[in-house]
Amino acid sequence: MLTRWLVLATFPFIALFLFLFLFFSYNISTKTTTLASYGNAMVVPPAHPRPAFSLLIGILTRADYHEHRHFLRLLYGIQSSPIAEFDVKFVFCNLTKVEQRMLIALEIIRFNDIIILNCSENMNSGKTYTYFSSLPHILSRQYDYVMKADDDVYLRVDKLAASLKPLERTDLYYGFVIPCTSQNPFVDYMSGMGFVLSWDLVEWIAESDIPANDTVGPEDKLVGRWLKVGNKGKNRFSDKPAMYDYPGSNGQCSHELIPETVAVHRLKRWDRWLHVLRFFNVTKELKPSKLYHFD
Ligand SMILES: *[C@@H]1O[C@H](CO)[C@@H](O)[C@H](O)[C@H]1NC(C)=O
Ligand SMILES: *[C@@H]1O[C@H](CO)[C@@H](O)[C@H](O)[C@H]1NC(C)=O
Ligand SMILES: *[C@@H]1O[C@H](CO)[C@@H](O)[C@H](O)[C@H]1NC(C)=O
Ligand SMILES: *[C@@H]1O[C@H](CO)[C@@H](O)[C@H](O)[C@H]1NC(C)=O
Repeated sequence: MLTRWLVLATFPFIALFLFLFLFFSYNISTKTTTLASYGNAMVVPPAHPRPAFSLLIGILTRADYHEHRHFLRLLYGIQSSPIAEFDVKFVFCNLTKVEQRMLIALEIIRFNDIIILNCSENMNSGKTYTYFSSLPHILSRQYDYVMKADDDVYLRVDKLAASLKPLERTDLYYGFVIPCTSQNPFVDYMSGMGFVLSWDLVEWIAESDIPANDTVGPEDKLVGRWLKVGNKGKNRFSDKPAMYDYPGSNGQCSHELIPETVAVHRLKRWDRWLHVLRFFNVTKELKPSKLYHFD
């Protein structure tokens, strides 16, 4: 009886202790964040601020492009953002070869970053529709935003996150507006190089008849039309000049590389990738070591 009373009596103390502990640790973490932002001189390690939102980046590619996925995994694996919690997934249609079934199973075991949709692989016949409309049924979680990106685009996730941060979390359609010279995000639609939809729009695509009945044609243009017909995507942002096609590759959609870049598209050749990766100093983290040399 006495022990039981003792146990019951300690509850309020435990609760008080927990409250004080949480209260102070919260204050300390907010303070260190503020202090750390004044410069590198601070000895206190910066506390991780809570990400402002979550983002799924789906890169539409082909099952056979194992080496290209390996390369893109490197590029996204070394990126981080204090603003967004992001996942990168490679998205393709049904497997068609025995060796794909082995290699892709191995990739999934190792990286768990692949989505195989129920579709057959040919451009402009509804892969983007299948992608968005499947997500609410197949994902085990929700994201604030879902992106569709090409596999010949280089995304700088920290810059992308910074540009999304002040925008609306719902009814948002974000990207690089086509035509190239348009500065009006309502005229006409966002380029397939990489566009972002808020989660409510992904759910709408999964539920509405409007996209379901209009899946054949250039995929980026279709998305613009669905939203227009459905009177959706009232919040829009066209991120020019931070998104663009590789210099000289596509008329007015192209311009020179710039430091504030969010996305460079049409990286179909190694010389272009190398130019871009050098420009953005992607290997600056590399530490000197006796184990390797680059002469
Ligand atoms: C996959 O799509 C085909 C036709 O496109 C359909 O008949 C089949 O039921 C779908 N399977 C699943 C598991 O959704
Ligand atoms: C894709 O594969 C699934 C499972 O084998 C099959 O049910 C479906 O019909 C295939 N879809 C297409 C479009 O070929
Ligand atoms: C789908 O499109 C066809 C042809 O454009 C049209 O006749 C039909 O009414 C549409 N259905 C829905 C549900 O919008
Ligand atoms: C890359 O590094 C060079 C040399 O440190 C610097 O001048 C340049 O601004 C950096 N470029 C970008 C895009 O950060």
